[in-house]
Amino acid sequence: MKIDLISIDSRRRPADLFSVGAFEGEKTIRSLAALEPEFATSIESAIKSKRFSGKKDESLNSFNPEYREASEILLVGLGRRAKFDLASLRQTIGKSIQLARSRKAKRIRLLFDSFVGGKVQAPAACEAITESALLAAYRFDRYMAKKKEENGGREAPESLEILLSRRGDGEKLGKNAAAAETVASGTIAARNLINEPGNIINPAKMVEEARRIARQKGLRCTILGLADLRRLKMGGILAVDQGSRTPPALIILEHGASHKRQGTICLVRKGVTFDTGGISIKPAADMEKMKYDKAGACSVIAAMGVVADLKLPLHVVALAPVVENMPSENPQRPGDIIRMHSGKTVEVINTDAEGRLILGDALAYTAKYKPRAVIDLATLTGMCAYTFGDKAIGLLGNDRRLLDRVKAAGEATGERCWELPLWEDYGEMIKGHHSDLLNVGGKYAGTITAAMFLKEFVPAKTPWAHLDIAGTAWCDSARSDCPKGATGVGVRLLIHLLANWR
Ligand code: BES
Ligand code: MN
Ligand code: ZN
Repeated sequence: MKIDLISIDSRRRPADLFSVGAFEGEKTIRSLAALEPEFATSIESAIKSKRFSGKKDESLNSFNPEYREASEILLVGLGRRAKFDLASLRQTIGKSIQLARSRKAKRIRLLFDSFVGGKVQAPAACEAITESALLAAYRFDRYMAKKKEENGGREAPESLEILLSRRGDGEKLGKNAAAAETVASGTIAARNLINEPGNIINPAKMVEEARRIARQKGLRCTILGLADLRRLKMGGILAVDQGSRTPPALIILEHGASHKRQGTICLVRKGVTFDTGGISIKPAADMEKMKYDKAGACSVIAAMGVVADLKLPLHVVALAPVVENMPSENPQRPGDIIRMHSGKTVEVINTDAEGRLILGDALAYTAKYKPRAVIDLATLTGMCAYTFGDKAIGLLGNDRRLLDRVKAAGEATGERCWELPLWEDYGEMIKGHHSDLLNVGGKYAGTITAAMFLKEFVPAKTPWAHLDIAGTAWCDSARSDCPKGATGVGVRLLIHLLANWR
């Protein structure tokens, strides 16, 4: 979908659908007077009628091919002005795009001023509209023979025109729209990769993808292959992948080496291209969803593309261990004791707790960069999905300032995080009797004990935040801003965090 900012006094072809927002209890809409008079009158009369009150999620459609502006009006309720925030705007835009799709509208136009108000200012509104429209229009249909028209006519709209009423707004807001487009395309790139199934994407394919993005965006790409991982004694990564036919890798993408003086930020991501659980095999129900277990790694690869596009003045190093967790004739066994890159030993109680094994090695390896902050992202524990559902990312870490920053970035982007404690007491639960550590801490507090395990591998005195995206990495039913499947969560949060680092 193409996004264009156009001025209200421009000459334009009629759109298929014209979207206007109206606040609850208000009888007028800003900038309406600048439109074709009959068209404006029909919108006004709809608002003044008792049949539309502007309540949140209320909408009114009317069709009239006579108007020059558009053949169909979609009036959407925004709720009370004082309560209107970015989250409501995002939702409203997502819903409008879904509705436009079901009405088979190809060209959508929207009265920008009518969506600004309450807590929402113009620049942020322009970003939110652009971003949510693009994300809402996303579909993953490359494996479907019947697409587009045949598929119930639900073709994605071709264009969205954002109609601006003040001269000069276009230039300023154009920058916001462009930035939002870059971030949205990163999220979409992540979704595309995450939605690919396990027979298409294996560790080798992930490496290929990373190389491709690095070449395209000008990132430095280093791949540590099987021989390197053996030399570096990355026992966790090697053990998890040992049941797979495809060798593991540690993908390292680097941006902005010339900014090293201000310190380095390391992003560590879980990339299990498919998680069967290994010998501690998962139940059949829902196992197909474990193709999403690479979500962390895919989001970081995509986010690094955005970091490069935006030319952020920061040294960022992204590390993604990629493996496949399979039972086979040579998998790891429960009870195996492995030695990790850091030298610590781990008894593998459950081969399905594999994420922490590969992340432990990658986290320890970040010491090489003497990072000023380490942030990891992983679909780590089913328990996190039980705790927060798909509404929040589980957040744990060792540094107040970093945690607050991550939380703020989550609030700003709608990718909200909620913190869980990392008290030393929980450490008891993962102490080994034949080894330093156990990879499972019993059936309680699973999200916390997994994070406690990771903490053992974070370089000393390094601020660290862990984001458990097990509940948020995909959705089981369509949302206004995302069809069923991968959400690309984390891309927006990370970009916001890095773009506002200082
Ligand atoms: N990838 C899973 C976590 C997961 C499960 C994410 C369901 C999203 C939905 C992870 O590797 C895993 O299997 N964790 C186990 C840990 C357990 C064996 C301690 C889990 O959560 O059940
Ligand atoms: Mn697992
Ligand atoms: Zn997993």
